[in-house]
Amino acid sequence: MKKFFLLYIFSLLLFNCTDKDAEYFDPRGTDYAGSQSCIQCHKPTHEAELTHAHYNATAPGTPENVLGNFSEGHNAFVYDGGTKIAMERRGDSICHVLYENGKEQKVFPVGIVFGSRHAQTSVYWENRNTYELPVSYYTSVQNWGTSPGFSSVRPQLDRKVVKDCYACHSSNASSSVRRGPSEKTNFMTGDIEDVIDPKTIVFGIDCERCHGPAKKHVTHHLKFPGEKQPFAITKYSALTNRQKLDACAICHSGVSGVKIKSIFSFRFGDAFADYWLKPQSDNPEVHGNQYGLLSQSKCFTASNNLNCTTCHDPHDGKKQGPDYFTPVCVGCHTSPSHNSETTKIMSLKRLAGNCVECHMPKQASRAIIFQQYKNSEFSKYLLRTHKIAVYPNP
Ligand code: HEC
Ligand code: HEC
Ligand code: HEC
Ligand code: HEC
Ligand code: HEC
Ligand code: HEC
Ligand code: HEC
Repeated sequence: MKKFFLLYIFSLLLFNCTDKDAEYFDPRGTDYAGSQSCIQCHKPTHEAELTHAHYNATAPGTPENVLGNFSEGHNAFVYDGGTKIAMERRGDSICHVLYENGKEQKVFPVGIVFGSRHAQTSVYWENRNTYELPVSYYTSVQNWGTSPGFSSVRPQLDRKVVKDCYACHSSNASSSVRRGPSEKTNFMTGDIEDVIDPKTIVFGIDCERCHGPAKKHVTHHLKFPGEKQPFAITKYSALTNRQKLDACAICHSGVSGVKIKSIFSFRFGDAFADYWLKPQSDNPEVHGNQYGLLSQSKCFTASNNLNCTTCHDPHDGKKQGPDYFTPVCVGCHTSPSHNSETTKIMSLKRLAGNCVECHMPKQASRAIIFQQYKNSEFSKYLLRTHKIAVYPNP
């Protein structure tokens, strides 16, 4: 009797399990399985991914995701004429509240946040679209400041955050959910309306944003658990170096240029040139254009196998910090010879250590500047350049 009962419970559990998988509905199309489904077979990769900035490139605007100081005296940006925006916790939400002469005018609940490392920008919902809030949080100064390009004199509340932002910062944002497979979409059934349905948003850059739709892969390996050869998933190792570069450059070569196709549809193996027309630049921007800068380095032009994953683990965000990269440099520069001029002023120990400190120095972004107070000087937004070179006065 007991045996039967256990069997019954077991079958119920099994049934529930399959039921739950069948229930999962991905707004990108029926050929997507969702990141949760990868955990059962790729647990270490999934755990690593949680530490990466990609995971939080966008997130719901819940209190645990919103950065900043909300305590009295540290939570407001004061504009001209008695206008201010205060960042406040109200119930379960974080809100930006517009005040005029001490009187509350309008409350903007934070809907979505962009970023988690150097800066975080918030957006609110209105008329089925999202708008950027005029105040952002900057971790380098641990303070609020104007959102990049916003006035410090009056709060601007009309900056629509278009789908392009989501195309680099999320895994999906569209006007409606897809009921069929993603490859069936065309310009008639595609994402034509200029609105965003919140139900379609897949936050952050998830497994299938990079690896492509993987429902077939999941179904196959669940059915044949003994099979060790990857089925129905692009093998990164089989790509050319150009394709490997393009897989990251699609989002890491800046925002200038003309888009030919939605980059949401980019897959491993696709050519960057089919998606973007980029202007040539002698002086690529340090923010967001790692590809443009790297491609101007001698390390890149004089070798044929350097790409982003030479230095970066695509999943593990803990493997960062300048020291981490020294062995990678030394992998190619087995015994870098510094001349006597250099060794006279810099100790050998220092030269053997942190290569990045001198050859990939931090530079101020030209695109991201912000003000911490009304009419104050612009604060610098420093990032490491990917143009590996010899710099004066390192
Ligand atoms: C039922 C088990 C199973 C599930 C679920 C699963 N995979 Fe896999 N996956 C495998 C096996 C087996 C391999 C081949 C051995 C290996 O590389 O670990 C593999 C390999 C891969 C590879 C490496 C391909 C290469 O370059 O060799 C990628 C990428 C991948 N899976 C992505 C995913 C993603 C994304 C998901 C979730 C949407 C997922 N897998 C879910 C079993 C699974
Ligand atoms: C879909 C767009 C997209 C793709 C594809 C993409 N990235 Fe990113 N990446 C981003 C965005 C957006 C951020 C900034 C996220 C943030 O800080 O909120 C980022 C951040 C990073 C960071 C910074 C991590 C940190 O700790 O500050 C690294 C390193 C990185 N990406 C490497 C890569 C590599 C390597 C690839 C290719 C294998 C790649 N990215 C592909 C969009 C993308
Ligand atoms: C072409 C791809 C692309 C587009 C479009 C784009 N971003 Fe980014 N964004 C990136 C990358 C890549 C990074 C991280 C690299 C860096 O810091 O150099 C980044 C960084 C950021 C950060 C800082 C994140 C952090 O953790 O420090 C914020 C905030 C941000 N973007 C917001 C936006 C907003 C808002 C929009 C639309 C107005 C936008 N981005 C459009 C690619 C893009
Ligand atoms: C930013 C793009 C990106 C994202 C997001 C991403 N991957 Fe990967 N993944 C890669 C790249 C690039 C490689 C190849 C790394 C290499 O061979 O150097 C890879 C390799 C793999 C491999 C095979 C080798 C290994 O490292 O185990 C598996 C399995 C895998 N990814 C699964 C996943 C899963 C599961 C997720 C989500 C939790 C995920 N990936 C998210 C880019 C990504
Ligand atoms: C894939 C191999 C490879 C890797 C990895 C690599 N380099 Fe290079 N690097 C080269 C080659 C090839 C050259 C050109 C020949 C030379 O000067 O040795 C070069 C040139 C340089 C130069 C001279 C640049 C100039 O403009 O004169 C510096 C400095 C340099 N590398 C530093 C670094 C540092 C620091 C790292 C790690 C962050 C690094 N490299 C990683 C291959 C590499
Ligand atoms: C030769 C090694 C090397 C290569 C190749 C390389 N990176 Fe980096 N990357 C670094 C170093 C070093 C840092 C700074 C890490 C730190 O200071 O924590 C960095 C930081 C970043 C950041 C964070 C920016 C910041 O300052 O927070 C992003 C994003 C990034 N890399 C993307 C890329 C992409 C995309 C590619 C390929 C086009 C690439 N990297 C190729 C070494 C490299
Ligand atoms: C404290 C600053 C500093 C550090 C740290 C440093 N370098 Fe350099 N490096 C320089 C300067 C300055 C030059 C140009 C003058 C010279 O050749 O000594 C240079 C030149 C180079 C060159 C070009 C030499 C040539 O023949 O043109 C390479 C390659 C290089 N460094 C690699 C490295 C590597 C790899 C590391 C880490 C192990 C490193 N450097 C650490 C300051 C530094």
